[in-house]
Amino acid sequence: MIRPLRRDHIPSVEALALECHPTRQMRPAIWWVAHPTAVHLFADSYVNAEITGYTSYTVYPSPTGRQVMYGMDLGVAADARGRGIGSALFLYRLLVASQLGVDLFIGATRPDNEPMVKMFRRYGFSPGSVIEHYYCEETPVRPGQLYFGDRETIMRALHV
Ligand SMILES: CC(C)(COP(=O)(O)OP(=O)(O)OC[C@H]1O[C@@H](n2cnc3c(N)ncnc32)[C@H](O)[C@@H]1OP(=O)(O)O)[C@@H](O)C(=O)NCCC(=O)NCCS
Repeated sequence: MIRPLRRDHIPSVEALALECHPTRQMRPAIWWVAHPTAVHLFADSYVNAEITGYTSYTVYPSPTGRQVMYGMDLGVAADARGRGIGSALFLYRLLVASQLGVDLFIGATRPDNEPMVKMFRRYGFSPGSVIEHYYCEETPVRPGQLYFGDRETIMRALHV
């Protein structure tokens, strides 16, 4: 089940984010305060109601007037990976994007993050530049590859 984050979920999602990104110095709670427009979702399992995954996004108008969704983060508990939870969260954001009339989805990942690269490719997103110091809040600083999808890509991804 995917639901919006509530205040009382924050400690569990923080712990999960630390498991997913052990080298990231900026903890989600700080990020969440720093990005007041962001919306955070989490997935919990039906079996024992544990929080198994989380994601966040923000929607904003670009200077050209187009609505943009930026996918901020995505993480799944190590023992729950490979079961489609990451893809379900990824698609949920795209569903929200389609409902909000988003024109462009922008995401990023490390170029060596195989599951994420597979996800972007599977749903038809186009690779953009690799930015050398993209994950500057991590130690060591890591590169990030941008991925883009227009409205047509978003709609097509929802029917894959
Ligand atoms: C990236 C992540 C969210 C994927 O979550 P997940 O629940 O395992 O994803 P899914 O089960 O939906 O699998 C997504 C794709 O990755 C593939 N995959 C899953 N685990 C994999 C692995 N260990 N190695 C290679 N591919 C893998 C799946 O086969 C699937 O590809 P397909 O659609 O072509 O079959 C998860 O691995 C994670 O939390 N990683 C650490 C945090 C992170 O890197 N977040 C992304 C930040 S941009």
